[in-house]
Amino acid sequence: MIVRRIKCLRSLGIRYNSSHYVTTPIFYVNAAPHIGHLYSAVIADAHCRYQRIRNPEKNVRLCTGTDEHGTKIQQAASLHGIPVAKYCDDISERYREVFKSAHILPDDFIRTTEERHKRAVAHFWRTLHSRGHIYSAAYSGWYCVSDETFLTDSQLRLDEASGTRYSLESGHPVEWTEETNYMFRLSQFQDDVRHWVKQEARIRPAKFEKILLDTLSEPLPDVSVSRPSNRVHWAIPVPDDDSQTVYVWLDALVNYLSSVGYPNEGYSAHWPPAQQVIGKDILKFHGIYWPAFLMAAGLEPPGQLHVHSHWTVDGQKMSKSKHNVVDPVQAARQYTMEGLRYFLLREGVAHSDGNYSHVKAQRILNSELADTLGNLLSRACAPSLNPGQIYPSSDAEHLADLLRTLDAAKRLQESLLQLSERCASHYESNHFHLVADTAMATLHAANNFFESSKPWTLKAGATGSNQPRLETIIAMTMDALRLCGIVLQPIIPQLATRLLDKLSVPTAQRGWHYLAESFATEPVNLGGSRQLDGQTSALLFQRILEEKPAKEEQKTQPAKRSKSKKRERRETMS
Ligand code: MSP
Repeated sequence: MIVRRIKCLRSLGIRYNSSHYVTTPIFYVNAAPHIGHLYSAVIADAHCRYQRIRNPEKNVRLCTGTDEHGTKIQQAASLHGIPVAKYCDDISERYREVFKSAHILPDDFIRTTEERHKRAVAHFWRTLHSRGHIYSAAYSGWYCVSDETFLTDSQLRLDEASGTRYSLESGHPVEWTEETNYMFRLSQFQDDVRHWVKQEARIRPAKFEKILLDTLSEPLPDVSVSRPSNRVHWAIPVPDDDSQTVYVWLDALVNYLSSVGYPNEGYSAHWPPAQQVIGKDILKFHGIYWPAFLMAAGLEPPGQLHVHSHWTVDGQKMSKSKHNVVDPVQAARQYTMEGLRYFLLREGVAHSDGNYSHVKAQRILNSELADTLGNLLSRACAPSLNPGQIYPSSDAEHLADLLRTLDAAKRLQESLLQLSERCASHYESNHFHLVADTAMATLHAANNFFESSKPWTLKAGATGSNQPRLETIIAMTMDALRLCGIVLQPIIPQLATRLLDKLSVPTAQRGWHYLAESFATEPVNLGGSRQLDGQTSALLFQRILEEKPAKEEQKTQPAKRSKSKKRERRETMS
């Protein structure tokens, strides 16, 4: 039956694949990770975490890693006076550590200096060559070392005073270069790539599809895919020609294949990637070169490119020369890694650049994570209201009465009823800011409900004390917290886990499916009243109290002792 269905889907051009393979770009090791790099990885991680809780039957696989070849890396290592291999090891390890501390959980971390990758590149090259897509030619042009690419005159700006030409796109200088290269027949794939780009939801957001289609409206030139080994020696040699090394972008793109075991049998179980997350600066490589390379090799191009915009800092492009590069480790000392994840996904939108500012981060984290989410949990767990420290069951009669008589209860119910569908649709498009928005709106409704229902007037000793009604109010509030905790797992995995732990929600009941079970649909709780977890603090996220630190201290200095103590405390909470 299933086989017949798969055949039927295939006949419609729909490929059945239970694998959901997601990739981040692999990161250059010429400098330490900054928040822009972390952002690419956090998007992919949150996407995968959502897929896992939404579709437990899918085989979700996340790959990230480091891009370690090329002139840029050679130069960075020699600038630091470190052997290039050791330099790569050190920076690659820093990426691994930052991702680990940000709770990014890749299934594979690939390095382009690994043997498995070199084998994959050699095989891929031979495939392109044997299929007639690579030829040798003399090549001359303006080469941008920093971008590892040749540029045409229209892509350059001439500085009259110095006579130096610069890349219009990246601002880096170029130099005239003449050499013999291997060329890839990109020009032959123009129509196929255009067709691929135009498929529904192929390139997201749509503005990046338009950028690609504009590029594709001009004839595509063939592209140089090798460099002379005497100029670029820190690279993979071209098979059967030691005088040339493989162009770093061809080398780098093949990482996505190496990670799943290409060319060994079995790699196709994961191929093609369902989604590749990239920043806008590497759109051309992933939206034109990559599908063309794959088609030329007889392989299927990726299902979707999710393109994100960039982070600026206080309105300025991040750059070493401006001394405004934000180190995620430093930032996490201020906000915790969970806070930083939340800020990046809450404030970043894919279609336009986001501005990173301390004031904004502090405001958002305090008002949303500390006040709206954290305070509500503390209030529902307060020993004065909840001396038994339970997640109670609601009483059917009081529940019905609250829903009938209290507008705020009705509004909370409506919000919970819409939560699953709305958030699923936002997650499907990687609109994490809208997921956070929706969850916060629900939590606002829950805070309003809690305030309006005045539970403190019902507690033992108060006039009008009424235990079943009090427990019903707490149960409804905890239902809202539980559902928002489930929804927020992909964005703030550690905080959401702590919230769900505190509420004693069994691990098996944290999947998307459980959003359908709350007072909003059923008058009873899952499994009845249960004890809260006494080991987990009800204090979820501490307010960020520090004044804005002086710029230099924020970016380069180690934290002062008294502050670092506070920070340590917060760190242990996330
Ligand atoms: N090595 C290449 C990618 C090869 S993939 C086959 C590369 N590396 S990178 O380290 O320069 O960039 C990696 C990712 O970080 C890219 O997605 C890039 O867009 C992203 N970011 C770099 N600076 C950024 C910001 N300021 N803001 C957001 N993302 C940014 O390119």
